[in-house]
Amino acid sequence: MYEQALKLRKIMAEKNASTSRTGNVKVYCVASGKGGVGKTNLSVNMGLVIQSLGKNVLLIDADLGLANIDVVSGLYPKYNLSHILSIGKSIKDVILKGPMGISILPGASGLYDLANITSVELKILIDSFSSIANDFDIIIIDTGAGISKNVISFIRSSDEVIVVTTPEPSAVTDAYALIKIARKYCDSIHVIVNKTDNYKEAEYTIEKLSRVTKKYLNLKINYLGYVLKDNTIYKSNMAQTPFYIKYPNGLASKCLINISKKLIYGEQIPLEANSNSTVDGWFAKLMSLIKTNVGAM
Ligand SMILES: Nc1ncnc2c1ncn2[C@@H]1O[C@H](COP(=O)(O)OP(=O)(O)OP(=O)(O)O)[C@@H](O)[C@H]1O
Ligand SMILES: [Mg+2]
Repeated sequence: MYEQALKLRKIMAEKNASTSRTGNVKVYCVASGKGGVGKTNLSVNMGLVIQSLGKNVLLIDADLGLANIDVVSGLYPKYNLSHILSIGKSIKDVILKGPMGISILPGASGLYDLANITSVELKILIDSFSSIANDFDIIIIDTGAGISKNVISFIRSSDEVIVVTTPEPSAVTDAYALIKIARKYCDSIHVIVNKTDNYKEAEYTIEKLSRVTKKYLNLKINYLGYVLKDNTIYKSNMAQTPFYIKYPNGLASKCLINISKKLIYGEQIPLEANSNSTVDGWFAKLMSLIKTNVGAM
């Protein structure tokens, strides 16, 4: 009884401490219709790229069924999201420092049934996220696949959604189903095409998706870019080290650097962001050359 009262008091204190967002922090929800398209790997590594661009990033593992940001990052957290609800842990105690100084809020996998939490509990979690939101420049929320009630709640709590798909028709169809719902809550819908064999396949995928969102939803999606199928991701996962750390010059890393810069700076990449990375500059140039040549073929 005493424990319950204590837990409630802590939760209420945290809720009261929650400040309304100043607008400085940008919250991105990474989602997909189909599972296994690469959300977790892209969220972790995009977080690291953005952190290395000088932003203060918080990565939230909100896959309430099968959390695994900690596994991908090689972290062994003592506490996770479930402890906010089960023992009233403060969100600040649960956040840990990951590689490159990124902050990570680990999820629970199998230990606590977060996949079936009540809407009151879900609200407590989302409220506690808001209480620390202003400590960060960017928050990236990695969600589970599909359009469950939980995923929709995280989409609603975010500023913008990043939909991940692969070129497979089933993944594209499921991405469309997700976008149809997400657009009710978020104005900006970004799309990344992952695990593509080449630039042309990704362009073809995005053209198909854009056509249907334009026709049936009157919505223009924002294509952030593509990530090539790259075995360095598998190797990094086996080593439990993010691929941007293990293979910073690998194909997947280079693709993700371009995507992250586009997300943060928009189309125009400021000179300062390029000046400390000649490899990036070279790669961007090479990519645009390839793009022009392929386009001309
Ligand atoms: N660009 C890529 N090239 C090759 N393999 C990839 C790529 N992106 C992801 N993978 C592989 O795809 C698998 C699924 O990745 P990940 O766990 O990140 O997907 P997810 O969308 O988070 O899955 P879930 O829906 O289960 O949460 C992993 O085995 C990962 O190594
Ligand atoms: Mg995942």
